[in-house]
Amino acid sequence: MTGSRDDRHAAHAASFTHHADEYAAVRPGYPPAAVDLLVPAGARDVLDLAAGTGKLTAALVERGLRVVAVEPAAGMREQLAAALPGVELHDGSAEAIPLPDASVDVVTVAQAWHWFDEPAAAAEVARVLRPGGTLGIVWNDRDEDVPWVGAYGALLHEAAGPQLARDTHPEPGDAFTDVLRTDVRWDHVLTPDELVRLAGTRSYAIVLPPDERAALLDRVRTLVTTHPDLAGRPRVPVPYVTRVYTARRR
Ligand SMILES: C[S@@+](CC[C@H](N)C(=O)[O-])C[C@H]1O[C@@H](n2cnc3c(N)ncnc32)[C@H](O)[C@@H]1O
Repeated sequence: MTGSRDDRHAAHAASFTHHADEYAAVRPGYPPAAVDLLVPAGARDVLDLAAGTGKLTAALVERGLRVVAVEPAAGMREQLAAALPGVELHDGSAEAIPLPDASVDVVTVAQAWHWFDEPAAAAEVARVLRPGGTLGIVWNDRDEDVPWVGAYGALLHEAAGPQLARDTHPEPGDAFTDVLRTDVRWDHVLTPDELVRLAGTRSYAIVLPPDERAALLDRVRTLVTTHPDLAGRPRVPVPYVTRVYTARRR
């Protein structure tokens, strides 16, 4: 893909709208231990920012919290509205959050902080959080130390070209304190077909020209059907490390 880093970034961030149904079907959710870390005892009002199809939103709703979701991509919002009709849902971005000042106890950001203009998003999150409130940022990373997962990841990294930064440690700035990281390990069980489809939901796979996308998914299918640790298995546990960062609003 050509264009400046900003153009590529915008195209990737916008890409989610086109494959929202696949995203909802095969991307992992978040383990309960990670949700426990994101929501401190006593929290009531939660903003799930960049809520997507509602994978984390659903876990928050299940805990009886009062949840507001903000998501800029129309396709993602449609899926969320269908799955969680009771949730208050707004079109909006991290850099312009459509909520009043000091209106929530927790802001959660799942799999999305790397898409944001960090200083602008941090300022907006600080504005909508009540003093003492929690910013919780979470990423699911496949455990690529497992050999077949490393080979699967290598195919995707090859297709991705220059990586958009995502391994970075969030730096929410001076309005926040007590930045902590905790890792939670767990397995997401998929069928071989879902494992191929999962590769197709990565933003860089979505924005590939159709022939390159088909070629990538063919390579992934070959791996999934021939790798000795995968071949012939009806279901495969995909090992994840969920990185949870929390920070407290001063
Ligand atoms: C990988 S998805 C994660 C969705 C959801 N949180 C989840 O865990 O499944 C990333 C989401 O970030 C959203 N996004 C991208 N840029 C954004 C921005 N600047 N502000 C808010 N959301 C953004 C995308 O539309 C997409 O829904």
